[in-house]
Amino acid sequence: MLNRASEASNVLKGHIENNNVIRIISHNDADGISAAAVLANALKEEKVQFHTTIVPRLKEDLINQLRHEKHDLVIFSDMGSSFVGELNSFKCDVIIADHHQVSDVEAESNVVHINPHLFDIDGSRDLSGAGSSYLAVRDLDKKHLAYFALIGAFGDMQGQDGFTGVNKLIVDDAKQSGNLEIHDGLKIVSKSSEPLFKSLAYTFSPPLPGITGDLEGSTEFLERMNLSYGIKFSDLGEEEKDILKDELIKINPDIFGDCYTVPKEIPLLRDLEEYSYILDACGKNKKFGLGLSIALGEREKALKTATDLQRKYRDQLVKGLEWIKKEGSVNLSHIQYLYSEDKVLKSVMGTIASIGLSINLLDDSKPVLGLSRLHKDIKVSGRTTRQQVENGVNLGKALQDSSNNFGGQGGGHDIAAGAMIPFDSKDNFLNLVNDMVEYQINND
Ligand code: C5P
Ligand code: C5P
Ligand code: C5P
Ligand code: ZN
Repeated sequence: MLNRASEASNVLKGHIENNNVIRIISHNDADGISAAAVLANALKEEKVQFHTTIVPRLKEDLINQLRHEKHDLVIFSDMGSSFVGELNSFKCDVIIADHHQVSDVEAESNVVHINPHLFDIDGSRDLSGAGSSYLAVRDLDKKHLAYFALIGAFGDMQGQDGFTGVNKLIVDDAKQSGNLEIHDGLKIVSKSSEPLFKSLAYTFSPPLPGITGDLEGSTEFLERMNLSYGIKFSDLGEEEKDILKDELIKINPDIFGDCYTVPKEIPLLRDLEEYSYILDACGKNKKFGLGLSIALGEREKALKTATDLQRKYRDQLVKGLEWIKKEGSVNLSHIQYLYSEDKVLKSVMGTIASIGLSINLLDDSKPVLGLSRLHKDIKVSGRTTRQQVENGVNLGKALQDSSNNFGGQGGGHDIAAGAMIPFDSKDNFLNLVNDMVEYQINND
């Protein structure tokens, strides 16, 4: 795969030398924004012009529009692998730097396709879209940008239990460049920007059952230790920090572990995992440009807007988790599902499904599909656990095949996937996914 990545670097070099304007299309989540950030930062340093567009998903009309734009190079990051056929017919050069599941269509000579799945590497765990994008520029002497690949990996939940595979190589690059330090610490969020009860309640990874997503539970926990819940973690005395650490470790030992930090960054963005959560909040609130501008170095006002968005987003996540707690999920024999027509829940459905599994609000022995109604369609977000994937479950495949069956579209990763289906086919779709998951487990 590194050879394939070098091919991409070579193509890029040619276009940089020719001073061509480079077109970048990326995905709208934390990983996709980080992917765009690696590419944009690299091109900015090379003093070439680029034009970036961030989209929720790649659709035919965008592809057709790009086909008619007069660019010499289009880069698709954190997306594109399922459109190789269409991109083959482009008259210009194309680089795909993706990590979603691939189809059987082979890339032609105008397309350089970087994707871990092409090399039997696990794209849901060992390399993110930002990682693929980083590999595409790595040979241009860009190891100091490697940390953006790790932000993307955190955004796609790849680093929370430690990095594996190609991600580990990227960690080494980042360390070598001096832009990454790894040290032991308490992995709670917003240590110097939020009161302690919120820092704990908004810590979703690793999960703290009884505290995660539960502001009351978090407050009670702190009161039991006689710690002031309104104080910030960074303002606690050393002894208090130790007491808190010991009590949190009793709930989840993973709460103390490796923290990945960029020493040159401001405190708010210094921790890579937290950086990804800020980009995630921008993405989920449709402020993709804001996220990208932060990653390109904009500070003050941009960060204030982003942290306000993050507060709103966290509030929505908590409401979403409360909704799951109250309503529960509907169980079929091999899957469970959530359904809502609420606008706010729609934007957090995938995330609360994932957190719901991790804090056991949902039975983690079955994949969960979060369904949101959008007029005549339903948006589906599927999430499952590593354990279920080891049992044979592949949600990306199940959602792709089942949605296609009803004229919809879907795909993603084994552990996390999504689809769009016509509203009328809801029940038949659910039954088909249920059957497919049953088949996957029985035929593993
Ligand atoms: O489109 P993209 O690949 O960036 O999205 C991957 C999705 O999978 C993210 O929403 C990420 O949080 C989710 N995921 C997960 N658990 C994992 C790996 C990925 O929920 N272990
Ligand atoms: O929707 P998606 O699966 O992308 O969710 C990824 C985001 O959700 C992360 O960036 C993070 O904000 C949050 N999350 C988390 N812990 C989990 C699951 C999701 O912090 N266990
Ligand atoms: O939308 P959501 O965060 O649930 O998406 C989870 C994963 O499924 C992402 O990797 C996304 O790119 C993929 N997906 C897809 N086709 C869709 C919806 C989502 O491939 N129609
Ligand atoms: Zn991704």
